[in-house]
Amino acid sequence: MLINKLLLIYFSPTHSTAQIVQAMARGWNIPEQRTINLNSIKQRHNFQFALKPSEAVILGIPTYQERIPNLLYPVLHKIIGNNDPMVLVATYGNISAGITLRELYKLMSHQGFKIIAAANFISEHSFFQGEIKIASGRPDQQDLEKAELFGKQIRQKMEATENLEKVPELNIKGKLLTINKLLPEYSELLFSHAPQIDVQLCQHCRKCLEACPVNAINPNNLKSRDKLCIHCMACVKTCPAQARKIVYKKQWLTKAWLNIVGKKRKEPLIYI
Ligand SMILES: Cc1cc2nc3c(=O)[nH]c(=O)nc-3n(C[C@H](O)[C@H](O)[C@H](O)COP(=O)(O)O)c2cc1C
Ligand code: SF4
Ligand code: SF4
Repeated sequence: MLINKLLLIYFSPTHSTAQIVQAMARGWNIPEQRTINLNSIKQRHNFQFALKPSEAVILGIPTYQERIPNLLYPVLHKIIGNNDPMVLVATYGNISAGITLRELYKLMSHQGFKIIAAANFISEHSFFQGEIKIASGRPDQQDLEKAELFGKQIRQKMEATENLEKVPELNIKGKLLTINKLLPEYSELLFSHAPQIDVQLCQHCRKCLEACPVNAINPNNLKSRDKLCIHCMACVKTCPAQARKIVYKKQWLTKAWLNIVGKKRKEPLIYI
């Protein structure tokens, strides 16, 4: 079937999901592409979804506490299709992909899309800092090549498809780690405080303000407001002066747990 346009939609505070989605789009190789970056609060509030004829969507999100980030539900509910083709990507920080992709598949199928392919890709964990080194440097060259190849496979699948309705359902797997079955949903805030600023190091460039996807940084004193912060660590990774730091709760326990469960290199999982 004819697909001659691509719409890339992603939420990607620390830019890994964006890199994967872009690599897939390169592999798919359709010159007419547009992008909607859901990082800004304004973009999410004003978001209006409309597809052009013969356009397919690649939707990418990160995994937060093994699930779809809670703050995305309002904007995801605005993405409504009419049996339109969509590819899903959920990235995760080499600990556990959990049920993000499965839930996203359910949601987007319910909202009128035909999911033609889906994947979990791995990226450096947002909490990567100091002694916590999880999935360092990922997505790396190997990941990006796999993402491009995945894009090529999707292209071939679409070229061989005459009728979207005949494309079989994908059997997306996913389960929660035992710890997350016991903890309440979205308990990621249990592990760290909002990042702290070292005013001695700060150069007042205000890049952290631009990076924050929920306007949680007070523009006057540049402190992160605990009540608004979603702990995405975008401000920490963006700061050119290393003036912002993650502060873990129960430091040694959090470090030990993250380092143990995140140690073994995991590989992307592709459904096509
Ligand atoms: C609040 C929060 C919760 C997270 N929970 C998980 C998780 O349950 N499992 C995991 O492997 N990675 C987890 N991560 C890591 C992110 O999924 C990973 O770093 C993601 O790819 C970041 O995407 P981005 O660079 O596009 O923002 C979490 C990150 C944050 C900020
Ligand atoms: S990004 Fe870093 S240096 Fe720039 S204003 Fe924020 S804390 Fe200061
Ligand atoms: S203040 Fe919190 S929500 Fe905002 S960028 Fe920093 S970690 Fe993310």
